[in-house]
Amino acid sequence: MKNNVNIQRRKLIKLAGTGVAATAAVATFPGLLNATTMRVGSHPTVDFNPDVEISLTGEVKYVQIYEGPQTRVWKVIGKVLKGDKNALANDDRSYLAPTIRLHKGQKVRIYLKNELPSATILHWHGLHVPSKMDGNPMYAIDNGETFVYEFEILNRAGTYWYHAHTHGLTAKHVYSGLAGFFIVSDDDEQALKLPRGEFDLPLVIQDRNFDPQNQLKYSGNMMQRMHGFLGDQILVNGQPDFELPVATRAYRMRLLNGSNSRIYKLAWDDGTPIKVIATDGGLLEQAETLPYLTLAPAERREIWVDFSDKKIGSELTLRSLEFVSSGMGMMGGRRGMMGGGMRGGRGGMMGGQSHAGEDFAVLKVRVNKKAATNDVLPKRLSKIKPLRLADSANPQAPRRISLFMRHMSALLNGRSYKMNDIREDEIMPLNTLQLMEFDNGFHGMGGMGMMGMPHPMHLHGEQFQVVKREARSKSGREYSSLSEGFLDKGWKDTVLVMPGEKVTILKPFNDFTGIFMYHCHNLEHEDMGMMRDLLVK
Ligand code: C2O
Ligand code: CU
Ligand code: CU
Repeated sequence: MKNNVNIQRRKLIKLAGTGVAATAAVATFPGLLNATTMRVGSHPTVDFNPDVEISLTGEVKYVQIYEGPQTRVWKVIGKVLKGDKNALANDDRSYLAPTIRLHKGQKVRIYLKNELPSATILHWHGLHVPSKMDGNPMYAIDNGETFVYEFEILNRAGTYWYHAHTHGLTAKHVYSGLAGFFIVSDDDEQALKLPRGEFDLPLVIQDRNFDPQNQLKYSGNMMQRMHGFLGDQILVNGQPDFELPVATRAYRMRLLNGSNSRIYKLAWDDGTPIKVIATDGGLLEQAETLPYLTLAPAERREIWVDFSDKKIGSELTLRSLEFVSSGMGMMGGRRGMMGGGMRGGRGGMMGGQSHAGEDFAVLKVRVNKKAATNDVLPKRLSKIKPLRLADSANPQAPRRISLFMRHMSALLNGRSYKMNDIREDEIMPLNTLQLMEFDNGFHGMGGMGMMGMPHPMHLHGEQFQVVKREARSKSGREYSSLSEGFLDKGWKDTVLVMPGEKVTILKPFNDFTGIFMYHCHNLEHEDMGMMRDLLVK
């Protein structure tokens, strides 16, 4: 049955070619109406005029990550079909998808071709796009099929990203390589004198496991799903033992935690505090200085790093510091093993088990060039309009979302993910501002098989603002070992909710009706069902 529909649809698309012809064909064969109109993204729209047209093809490829055998990965290969050739940059040495760079106001058409041995779909994380262009798992395409995205860049400048969002398989697909940067610029940001070109560095941090043949290992067993996958190798931009040669000047580093579940506590090994200039949804109003950065899966932070007072030849390491993580306690991970610096050998160092809060090196910077710049971090980075409680549709009655893990399930308000299962409390009136709270055991649901774990909560659609963070115990060891690295200012699309904590946000639902997801961005949790749809109407 399903096959039949697919065959008819493909035939029709071949026959039709353009949107206009497709409409004509539908008129001629009314019996095919459903098969054609139901498939969102099956063909380009005639009245959409893209500034940039891109093709992204998911393929099985082999890349050289380590010496010896190449690693089999799922790679997205990109090509600019029309418009600015700089809109896309492939990195042949890594498994990562190409970096996409677009400017606010540009219209883009993206042909996603699936040549992988699985159905898949790509989602534009953090971008405010129409529901049908958002990469909901219901739009997954089979091998041999193409999905056509068309949207305008409405977001302000920022470091966004994109990744697979396949039903029940997001973790595995992202792990295999289906993720990349999506960087947006705008006029205000360009007017600032921030480091550009080779001094503006997108850096994605991920953890992976490899077998002795250099192949990616991902077991996905129940234990791994409950806690989230933790790899014993840290890769930056797809490279192990990442080293960055720098000049004595300032850099803009765009840090993305592209890991499935690992939280990083990032700090410079010489104690230099971290200057944050931007978060998920772009520049802050002014830089914030933190002793370290807590970076949960899917979160981004841009930092300003100035090496101008460093001597040629000096080295600096960005580490992830040790923190307390009760969630992983029962894994019996051999903590402390990674303390020695960059990992030399691999496989077996951790006895196959990695710990959530262990200390390790993330990347090494080597100052090797003089630069005669005089970089000054602008005092004012941007203007952010604060969302106001008074403007929200429900200032007295926040939409509460309880985060719950028990036995073999990960739930939102006691529910597991299901397509076409919108409940009353999941309907958002269009063009409203909603007060929402994520409750991770704050209201005392502890005990009785409840497992306290941090959950990085993400909402699709527009960026939101964090109103407040309340913790049952701010002095708890787990909480206080990460809390100085929280940064809730600015526009966010993902917020880490610690065990015993409640985080309240204001989230706008403007412009587009339809389905937008919300979920835990611990990808194993997401695949276990810790995800739901919201319907904006
Ligand atoms: Cu980054 Cu629904 O995901
Ligand atoms: Cu998203
Ligand atoms: Cu979670």
